[in-house]
Amino acid sequence: MNQKRYPLLPLIILCAGIILTLFGCGGTPSTTTPPPSSTASLGAQLYTDNCARCHGVNRQGSSLGIALPKTNPVIANDTAAELATFISVHRIAIIFTPDQVSALVDFLKNG
Ligand code: HEC
Repeated sequence: MNQKRYPLLPLIILCAGIILTLFGCGGTPSTTTPPPSSTASLGAQLYTDNCARCHGVNRQGSSLGIALPKTNPVIANDTAAELATFISVHRIAIIFTPDQVSALVDFLKNG
């Protein structure tokens, strides 16, 4: 047995373990869930790019499109699914992905 040659070995192993536990292995921090606002900000971006030219940058409306406040009956009363269907067929020649449509719905209802 060599135990007497390395009297500090168990202590070193213990310290290494503590250090690894505290600081990890130098890897990147684990990914966190994006904050809830990220969908809304994607929706806001999509709105600015695709809807604002008719509905106004602040949803105030323009000569080309009506104002779209949260209290608009279609936005307030349609379910998210109904609103998503409406957006998908509404006036613009862009085909949104389902994620983009739900981001827009989220933005219209909550953003
Ligand atoms: C070319 C102009 C134009 C563009 C671009 C446009 N809209 Fe509209 N939108 C209108 C007009 C005009 C109306 C009025 C009602 C109708 O014609 O459907 C309307 C109505 C709506 C309504 C229903 C409001 C109501 O009370 O009937 C919603 C919701 C809406 N738009 C959302 C959007 C979203 C979201 C986008 C972008 C993805 C968008 N619109 C892009 C012109 C536009």
